[in-house]
Amino acid sequence: MRNSSPSKPARGNIVIIGAQWGDEGKGKVIDVLTEDADVLIRYQGGHNAGHTVIVDGEEFVFHLIPSGLLHPGKVGLIGNGVVIDPEALLEEMTRLAKRGVNVAQAVKISDQAHVIFPYHKKLDLLEETTRAGRIGTTGRGIGPCYVDKAARCGIRMADLCDTRAFPGKLKQAVEEKNRLFKALYNEPPVNYDELLARYQGYADRLRPHVVHGGRFLRDAIAQGKRLLFEGAQGTMLDLDHGTYPYVTSSNATSGGACTGAGVAPTVIDRVIGVVKAYTTRVGEGPFPTEFPPQLMDVIRTKGREFGATTGRPRRCGWFDAVVARHAVWVNGCQSVAVTKLDVLDEMDTIQICIGYQEGAERTEDFPADTERLSRCKPVYESWPGWKAETGDAASFGDLPPAAQRYLKRLEELMGVPICLISTGSRREQAFKTSSW
Ligand code: IMP
Repeated sequence: MRNSSPSKPARGNIVIIGAQWGDEGKGKVIDVLTEDADVLIRYQGGHNAGHTVIVDGEEFVFHLIPSGLLHPGKVGLIGNGVVIDPEALLEEMTRLAKRGVNVAQAVKISDQAHVIFPYHKKLDLLEETTRAGRIGTTGRGIGPCYVDKAARCGIRMADLCDTRAFPGKLKQAVEEKNRLFKALYNEPPVNYDELLARYQGYADRLRPHVVHGGRFLRDAIAQGKRLLFEGAQGTMLDLDHGTYPYVTSSNATSGGACTGAGVAPTVIDRVIGVVKAYTTRVGEGPFPTEFPPQLMDVIRTKGREFGATTGRPRRCGWFDAVVARHAVWVNGCQSVAVTKLDVLDEMDTIQICIGYQEGAERTEDFPADTERLSRCKPVYESWPGWKAETGDAASFGDLPPAAQRYLKRLEELMGVPICLISTGSRREQAFKTSSW
């Protein structure tokens, strides 16, 4: 992180959210903000997320653990709103420990977080192949685990760690799922004994990390600690505010931080949205500004647009100000961080979507109805490219004038200032602006 602006101290408790379809580069922004935070919190999603942080040339991908934990002395909480695959979590903890992080002290897990079992993953894959319109899920069992949570038959970390109650709860769940596998999919049953033994082993290793999440944060606040809430996925993948049904099964918006961590809205001081200087999306669903194939290849290669979790190629498109404005409003973003500006360095012309056209009707508001959205055509504004490298810029003033104009226009369209700009994958390729 370059120290270019007279940066004010970070204020209070901050929520970072993705303001597009996920993969906005939140990991990098979180890494920068962690300098001013004490407790880092994941509040929704699961190991469908992949936050990439590059330190000293080494890439580290976080899936479940808050990505700020690479900084020494920080504590991370996996909140009640997260769904946890214990195997994935333990694997991530082992990798972190190898990097010298004191995992025993640094990783806390809410006892109310729900647990993903192999039958969730199996259901996720079966549902994808049998439903009429594919969603393109990550296949990690995320949706089915949240279904069990809402249906009040899920198993939480507290249940997993309760040696007496867990076998009975698991038996009930396995029997129910096996009835489903047989009746609906003609699939072989899940083996209860094998699953029980495996998950009892996970419980023994995770038990020391399990806390009452809400109380843990209440104590941290009382001690004057600063909280940083790390949203996963993005606003357009939010279960309520995204492009339903092509969404994930949790609330990726800032409101999710309260329900998913166990804090009141009044605890949040600041919400920062993260956008790429263009747009990407993984999986199915409408994407109005999607590039034609040739441009898609150029940007995908330059921006290394392949999923951090599944390796799938991301769909790429122009910056969509209708989406970004919707995200700013739904999340209450006071400012926005823009990432990957450098990916546009070689473009002759850059387009910004400023509205949608549906037949004779023009709108600047994001349509809640996904069917309607898929009929909308983007209305573009063209801006000249800057045709110069931005990777070494240390301040807004260092950017080529055309890049400055592009960013100023984004600010105008989003209605909030840009507080941080990232122009490359390395930690130092980012600077705060005077709006920080
Ligand atoms: P699920 O979260 O695995 O159920 O997938 C639902 C949708 O969200 C699919 O379109 C996924 O590609 C997308 N998705 C889930 N997690 C991420 C993420 O971290 N980044 C981008 N897309 C994601």
